[in-house]
Amino acid sequence: MIKTRMTEVFGIQHPIMLAGMNWITDARLVAAVCNAGGLGIFATARCTPEEMRENIREIRKLTDRPFGVNIILIFFGGPEKIKVAIEEKVPIINYTLGKPWFIDEVHAYGGKVMGTTALAKHAFKAAQLGCDAVIVTGHEAAGHGANATSLILIPIAASTVKVPIIAAGGFYDGRGLAAALALGADGISMGTRLMLTKESILHDSFKKLCLDATEQDTLYDTVFDGLPGRALKSKGAKDMQKRGFPFVEAFKAASQLRNEMKLTYPQFVALSLKMMSAGEESSPLWVQARQATGLARFLRGIYDGDTEEGILFAGQAIGGIHDIPTVEELIHRVINEAEKILALLNAQVH
Ligand SMILES: Cc1cc2nc3c(=O)[nH]c(=O)nc-3n(C[C@H](O)[C@H](O)[C@H](O)COP(=O)(O)O)c2cc1C
Repeated sequence: MIKTRMTEVFGIQHPIMLAGMNWITDARLVAAVCNAGGLGIFATARCTPEEMRENIREIRKLTDRPFGVNIILIFFGGPEKIKVAIEEKVPIINYTLGKPWFIDEVHAYGGKVMGTTALAKHAFKAAQLGCDAVIVTGHEAAGHGANATSLILIPIAASTVKVPIIAAGGFYDGRGLAAALALGADGISMGTRLMLTKESILHDSFKKLCLDATEQDTLYDTVFDGLPGRALKSKGAKDMQKRGFPFVEAFKAASQLRNEMKLTYPQFVALSLKMMSAGEESSPLWVQARQATGLARFLRGIYDGDTEEGILFAGQAIGGIHDIPTVEELIHRVINEAEKILALLNAQVH
């Protein structure tokens, strides 16, 4: 057993979290992680607030353990989703991109709040605002790590942040967990590794591409969704990098997005303007156009398995991942390996 401030604060067995991953973290995957003793996080970016509520209820049917929701505050329906999460008394709210105005309300029902950050100064700020834990995301990550790698970011954040730190970006085995603890983290968040499990809905053709990939086979760029992020070096991702600004594709993708979000044209334009004027976290129109384009291609990759045009966020961890275990097998393997390493290292101290 590895007990840390993370297991204590969230009331879980193992210091391992399923990173919130839009499209990937469905109720089944979230519950599988919770039932295996970790912390499952459901990413809500693809949902309307009501769909999010249905998913929360579905998760509760599948597990009685603590779980969380990941909400992008400046994204469509952010404040409404926070309201739903509070009404449903979700045990853990993991927010990203924006300032958390709701911490007291969550604490009032006994819930916890966790901010996702990629800079040490933002982790410090999130803790100062009252977060119960912070996620720090290193450059290795799928999705949105900043410049510093986990090796640099974790100890720097750990020297100033007083609440538990969950390290994200590049973690896929027990060696990574032991290293993160040594660097000052209280646990790890795994995205890419848990995306490559039996319970994950990722299409088999992309699972296979990931298994065949090395640590060199990702691309880090802003073309995928407007923010600096890392994608698997697939044909679709390489095409996106080579092409200029995708005006026609962005236009088509934006109308598809409007349909999926069930918004009228005025609502869609109002949302876009709101995202453009969200202060430090604002998304200019070109970023939004990139997001819409990326979204359509992510869907083609994750659900349809279209390896020609579809794309997939994936971290450098793919280089070390060679199998598709069940969630339970994976979590037990990571914990057993970390325990052995920690005992071995301890025995070397005289
Ligand atoms: C397919 C995919 C979708 C993601 N969607 C989100 C999201 O909706 N919200 C979020 O905060 N992070 C998102 N991320 C980033 C992850 O939460 C996490 O930071 C990252 O996967 C950690 O790095 P790792 O992949 O090396 O474990 C996504 C990652 C992937 C692979």
